[in-house]
This record gives sequence, structure tokens and C-alpha cells, in this order.
Amino acid sequence: MTSALEAVLERRSMSKVTDEAPTHDELLTLVSAAGRVADHSSLRPWRIIELRGDDRLRLAKAIAKAEGDKKPSSKPLRAPLLLAVVASYRKSKVPEWEQEAVASGVAHVLSLLLDEAGWGVFWRTGSHTRAKAVAKAHGLGKDEVLLGWLYVGGKPPRTRPSRRRTVDARHHVSRMPKPKKV
Ligand SMILES: Cc1cc2nc3c(=O)[nH]c(=O)nc-3n(C[C@H](O)[C@H](O)[C@H](O)COP(=O)(O)O)c2cc1C
Repeated sequence: MTSALEAVLERRSMSKVTDEAPTHDELLTLVSAAGRVADHSSLRPWRIIELRGDDRLRLAKAIAKAEGDKKPSSKPLRAPLLLAVVASYRKSKVPEWEQEAVASGVAHVLSLLLDEAGWGVFWRTGSHTRAKAVAKAHGLGKDEVLLGWLYVGGKPPRTRPSRRRTVDARHHVSRMPKPKKV
């Protein structure tokens, strides 16, 4: 079993994937684990919508409508399974930005778990992500917004490793500034 550190360092986004996809049951196991992220007041302010087969064509049409295009978008057909990540705001003292942070955390952890399980994943968005036609196609409620889609499929046999380097943590970690002398 790989450690969390190893899994994170190994993870790569896969822009091209094959037609294989995790089953619904396989997905449920991973979503359940991803739902363990820190969550202020345990509001569970998120949900995932699976788009398979012709669902993707409905998204393709909604994107075209949002962007004023005549032809359906070809984007959603890039993977056999799209997981729409939804932030579902709950009525709470916990502000919406905190709830969105939880939904985003679930998506990141789910991406990692899918990658570790051998699936190719790519988180995509676009100018259409918050468009009305796209929300309608997903059946979103009035207190829901999309954070994008995890495009999921099989990892192609020969994949070029991503060029993105591990960050230099020294550039991202600092101490609090000292108070200014008056
Ligand atoms: C919320 C979110 C939305 C993203 N949307 C896109 C996108 O629409 N197009 C794109 O090329 N990359 C997008 N990315 C970045 C890729 O998913 C990916 O992280 C990036 O290509 C770097 O690859 P790596 O994850 O292997 O380092 C998005 C990432 C996040 C977190």
C-alpha cells in the first residue's frame, strides 16, 4: 500500500484517457473515502453527478447553448466518465466560502484516490461552468454551483509524464510578519 505522501507525489493529471471507466460501485467506495475531508459542522455541502454515455451529449448541447455555438461541444466526449463536482450550500453560520472549500477538498481527494486506483483524471472547467443552461442540464438547485468536472477514464498504456515540477515549499511557507514598531 502506498503512503499518502507517495500517492500525492505520484499523481498526474491525464488529459487523454481510454474508454474504460470505474463502475458506479467502485466510484462509491472512493467518494465515500473522499467525503472524509475536514468539514466545518459536518454540513456535507457537496454532491457528485455521474455523466456517462449520452449524458455527455446533453452536457455538450448545454455548453453549446451557453457559448452560443450551433454545434454541440466535443469537450465532454474526451472521457467515458465525467464527475460533475457540485457545491451545495447549506443554511448555516458556516459561510459559503468555507462550504466551497469542503466541496473542492472532496474533488481533490477524489482525484487522488482515482489516480491511485489506476484511473486517469483531469479536472476541467470553462467559461460555461456557471452558465444557466449547464446548471439546468445537471438539475442543480438554486443553492448549488458547479466547481467543474473530473474527466475520468483509463490511463493510456504509454503516457508522457507531466512536466509540472514539485513546488519549492520554501516559496510557499513563511512566518507571520512581525508587528511594525510605532
Ligand atoms: C478547479 C480547477 C479547474 C481546472 N480547469 C482546467 C481546465 O479547464 N483546463 C485545463 O487545461 N486545466 C484545468 N485545470 C488544471 C488541470 O486539472 C491540471 O491540474 C493541470 O493541467 C496540471 O497538471 P497536474 O495536475 O498533473 O500537475 C483545472 C484545475 C482545477 C483545480
